Amino acid sequence: MATETLKPDLADTGASEELEPPHRQPDPPATATFRVWRGDREGGQLVDYTTSVSPGMVVLDAIHQIQADQANDLAVRWNCKAGKCGSCSAEVNGMPKLMCMTRLSELPLEKPVTVEPMRSFPPVKDLVTDVSWNFRVKTRIKPFRPRAPDAADGTWRMTQPDVDRVQEFRKCIECFLCQDVCHVLRDHQLQEEFIGPRFLVHVAALEMHPLDVEDRVADLRRAHGIGYCNITKCCTQVCPEHITITDNAIIPLKERVVDEFFDPLGRVLKVFSRGGKA
Ligand code: SF4
Ligand code: SF4
Ligand code: FES
Repeated sequence: MATETLKPDLADTGASEELEPPHRQPDPPATATFRVWRGDREGGQLVDYTTSVSPGMVVLDAIHQIQADQANDLAVRWNCKAGKCGSCSAEVNGMPKLMCMTRLSELPLEKPVTVEPMRSFPPVKDLVTDVSWNFRVKTRIKPFRPRAPDAADGTWRMTQPDVDRVQEFRKCIECFLCQDVCHVLRDHQLQEEFIGPRFLVHVAALEMHPLDVEDRVADLRRAHGIGYCNITKCCTQVCPEHITITDNAIIPLKERVVDEFFDPLGRVLKVFSRGGKA
């Protein structure tokens, strides 16, 4: 065996530095400036804070550091610091983001990092917004209504593909970043007419549930305003749970509305089909 052609065991010889000097990354800046929106319902302004940064930090760390050292009254909402509670939503350099999942290493720190509250919701203080509208919207959506049990012991039977189809929608953490970015809510302020992508995902989870027998299609068209969505996919792009909001939730719901209201043959067939939900 030609052992002489094998590379020496670098761990054994301790010669790694001599043979292959490690590629040195340039040192990150030791400080960075965060341009944070400070204010309340009456108005506000961006205020610059310079703070130290270190490898591994996320935007929420920097905000907490600023809060601890320079601005004790800076209001910020957070809970899990793990991308799961949906509390720390904000706009970082103009993009809807979870602050706890946005690494400073992903941002150009040579210029100030702007951190602003979500603009689609009324400000409460600094980075905290009033998202209660979302919870009121949810109460307008018809809840889960299961069909009668399939077996005498009160249990149901479902196929695995039908179960799998709704799992994606159940990953939603209600961060409302999709609501923040949707132009129907953000620019056109149609909160009274349109429930927004988060709640279209919620309706999809109910409508596609294999046991659910409630009919929400008429509500989708009228009370929930699904027609306002023009499939820009901005909501899908910002979802931290990578839910395919437009393709997997909104478009199939739109198809149901079209089938129900704009397809005469489909309506005739439905009369004869006795409540067969897809
Ligand atoms: S795809 Fe529809 S719901 Fe999503 S952001 Fe665009 S308009 Fe809003
Ligand atoms: S669908 Fe995605 S972006 Fe929208 S609230 Fe849920 S997790 Fe957040
Ligand atoms: S603190 Fe929970 S998602 Fe950021």
